[in-house]
Amino acid sequence: MNKVFNKNKIIKELRFSFGFKKFFSWARPWICPFEKFIFSVPNNKSVFDIGCGDGVFLYLIAILRKPKFLYGVDVIDTDLDAVKTVFNKVKYKKISTFLDWPEDKFDVVTVIDVLHHIKPEEQSLFVKKAIDKINPGGILIIKDMNTRPMFCAFMNILHDLIFAKQLIKYFSFEKLKNIIEENGFIIQEVNSKIILWYSHKWVIAKKNN
Ligand SMILES: C[S@@+](CC[C@H](N)C(=O)[O-])C[C@H]1O[C@@H](n2cnc3c(N)ncnc32)[C@H](O)[C@@H]1O
Repeated sequence: MNKVFNKNKIIKELRFSFGFKKFFSWARPWICPFEKFIFSVPNNKSVFDIGCGDGVFLYLIAILRKPKFLYGVDVIDTDLDAVKTVFNKVKYKKISTFLDWPEDKFDVVTVIDVLHHIKPEEQSLFVKKAIDKINPGGILIIKDMNTRPMFCAFMNILHDLIFAKQLIKYFSFEKLKNIIEENGFIIQEVNSKIILWYSHKWVIAKKNN
């Protein structure tokens, strides 16, 4: 049975585990609808989170699912210490590009709010490489910022200019769906949600056996 996603209770726990100073990590569930796709991660599976940041999503999987193994990669210095307080089979690797990703394949691959940070000329290949990491029958979850409504897309560009100091580039969801389907996946869900001025869109797909 799915555990309940009690947002306020979870944010309180994240604030305690990540530490008050990590506001941009523990406050993520306020603006990112993790609850909409976290329960698509089946129990007892290995999970590879690309662009994991400090590991908020991995933490949520650790407490709300029953993962076999968690692996996060990102370009930042982190150690996923907060995740390790609730689950010990977790690994982190600091990377520069997808060439540094581990050789292993995983049952679930997640890419949450990362694609728009990737150079436009590398985005398609980045998606294909993520897809290559998935075992037969495995699950792909890609969540990114929606380009509609335009006001929200603009506000998110502003957000990333201020906080990530980067002029981001959105990747077309149509292209994303095409790449996923061309590579032997069945799309199970495409959905969207607006929270405040953040417009989210995600795709969940299953790889053929
Ligand atoms: C908005 S944060 C999302 C973090 C996390 N996925 C979450 O949902 O809480 C975007 C993350 O993408 C990471 N990132 C940017 N470029 C990347 C790259 N080339 N490979 C992997 N991660 C990258 C950033 O360092 C940052 O942690």
